[in-house]
Amino acid sequence: MKFKRHTVTAALPYANGPVHIGHLAGCYLPADIYVRYLRSKGEDVKFICGSDEHGVPITIKAKKEGITPQQVVDKYHKMMGDAFKEFGVSFDIYSRTSSKTHHETASAFFKTLYDKKVFVEEVTEQYFDEKANQFLADRYIVGTCPKCSNENAYGDQCEKCGSTLNATDLINPKSTLSGEKPVLKNTKNWFLPLDKMQPQIESFIDSHKDWKTNVYGQCKSWLNAGLQPRAMTRDLDWGVKVPVEGAEGKVLYVWFDAPIGYISATKDLTKDWELYWKDKETKLVHFIGKDNIVFHCIIFPAMLMAEGSFILPENVPANEFLNLEGDKISTSRNWAVWLHEYLLEFKDKQDVLRYTLCANAPETKDNDFTWKDFQAKNNNELVAILGNFINRTLVLTHKYYDGKVPVAAEYTKSDILLLEEISKFPAKIAASIEHYRFREALGELMNLARLGNKYLADNEPWILIKTDEKRVQTIMNLSLQISANLSVLMEPFLPFTSAKLGNMLNLNAGFKWNDATRTDLLLAGHQISTAALLFEKVEDETIVAQVQKLANSKMMNEVENTAIEPAKPETSFDDFSKMDIRIGTIIVAEKVPKTDKLLKLLIDTGIDKRTVVSGIAGSYKPEDIIGQQVSILVNLAPRKIKGIESQGMILMAENSKGELSFVAPTRADMENGGAVK
Ligand code: MF3
Ligand code: ZN
Repeated sequence: MKFKRHTVTAALPYANGPVHIGHLAGCYLPADIYVRYLRSKGEDVKFICGSDEHGVPITIKAKKEGITPQQVVDKYHKMMGDAFKEFGVSFDIYSRTSSKTHHETASAFFKTLYDKKVFVEEVTEQYFDEKANQFLADRYIVGTCPKCSNENAYGDQCEKCGSTLNATDLINPKSTLSGEKPVLKNTKNWFLPLDKMQPQIESFIDSHKDWKTNVYGQCKSWLNAGLQPRAMTRDLDWGVKVPVEGAEGKVLYVWFDAPIGYISATKDLTKDWELYWKDKETKLVHFIGKDNIVFHCIIFPAMLMAEGSFILPENVPANEFLNLEGDKISTSRNWAVWLHEYLLEFKDKQDVLRYTLCANAPETKDNDFTWKDFQAKNNNELVAILGNFINRTLVLTHKYYDGKVPVAAEYTKSDILLLEEISKFPAKIAASIEHYRFREALGELMNLARLGNKYLADNEPWILIKTDEKRVQTIMNLSLQISANLSVLMEPFLPFTSAKLGNMLNLNAGFKWNDATRTDLLLAGHQISTAALLFEKVEDETIVAQVQKLANSKMMNEVENTAIEPAKPETSFDDFSKMDIRIGTIIVAEKVPKTDKLLKLLIDTGIDKRTVVSGIAGSYKPEDIIGQQVSILVNLAPRKIKGIESQGMILMAENSKGELSFVAPTRADMENGGAVK
């Protein structure tokens, strides 16, 4: 390799929820496989991660749970760190961005760019909540989407139609803090002039045509659209304070501070941190999910370029998304397989999940995790191929030779071919890993186990033992060598199984990747330990229980989504009795032309006959409601709607699907004009 050392980072997960399988498949598992492989090659590598503890999602979570942001991040930082560790994700450090080192590092980085006059200061209008007395981040503003009329679109995005929005695009914006209409107010922020930096960034991206097509393609499309200056400071109070004058009440943009978290974590790990960030002979690789591409390929490199003393990433392998049982994984909808729960429910089965997620990794397109597939991968591959080969080999070795490795006598032609085949696997698997094709690499590993299985099946030592003991010694010796090689080569993917197998073989723990090109890792006479099964079948009941658990969470969600509108503030009887509500009857009904929702009604109120425009056409056809009794507010000030004067309002009840119903008397003898009180 042309590099002396490696810095490998995995995206810092937001500390606002636990880790789920989507995180693992997208980023942490491939990163861990890559790093374990490098270590096995004897490379100098630091594997860096930590919690991303700033940003608006954290403050929103805190508000929702009625605790402080610090309490939120403390809880999830611990939870995520523990779960990663138990799952065998072998970070050299799992740090956090609320740490002192990080605040100092991020702050100094900003100050350096500020002193170099990199930033452009600009005053812009931002939404401000006068009641809460603060500027509103995009996620704190909801309103009607200008594209699809969804009334609950966020200031940065409409989740219904998927449009990216600016807060000022929203119709009827409302602050989620106070429910008030926000006002536009001037504020100064510091922008990274990505527009001016475009040529540099472009040549950086163009020098990396080797990146995965999804990554390179996304970068190109940003560049083609033309980069825009991006604010690196925000009017918020949770985050790293902006260390310059005139920036009171502002913090660094979370996407400015978080990637610097990789650097601060390295500082906390080793006093040689600069070697890992500033030496040209260090290979920097960022593992991320696809929603992080622009930040790692364009914005962070731009920051590093502007600073001037750092290396740039050599590669940014980003995976697509993993879905769950055909549906998008979602923390808020509890549609996920949570790592901490898996670890409890599937004790000592970390490798089964590692295997399934790697075999199904969304490397080139979104992919689906299903429990049925999890079961199939375990039963038909881990148990039936890998486990079966190892088990037959070890059991026969104990049975025929009391667990001592037999001497290989003479190799047949097919043995020699087999030996040749075996010795090619380390390079084949390595090439796939080095190209970030982990599914392919895992497939090759399984091919080695398949080769072993076929060798046993073709040679049938259990039959030959009666006629040709010599030959059986060779067969068993070779099967044991394959087992030893498997133990070394599976380590990056299945570290727990590798250790277990290593113990069973009593294998020298010092064997590394390149040793697996040899076919004499176990010397004749070497005593192996007791055999135990590497994998056990996953039964139908287990899978049914997990599917049921998901079905429950879907149901809970539906219940939650039918949530009733919260109660309004108290009012007085006086205020209520100002409303003059009467029973009336619809005598004429017709659609208001060029509208979807509106009907023009003529109502007999008992007092008079009057016109009312009502938004009920989604629920009722005009011809069906003639003669219908209704409740009508008769003393509402008249309003012009679509040019028609509406003289009152019909009371309607609404269900969770947004369907409407008249509120009408249940007795037939209620006359028009009867008061509702
Ligand atoms: N917290 C971000 C996410 O979960 C990732 C941050 S990666 C870093 O999408 F580079 F900013 F650290
Ligand atoms: Zn929309």
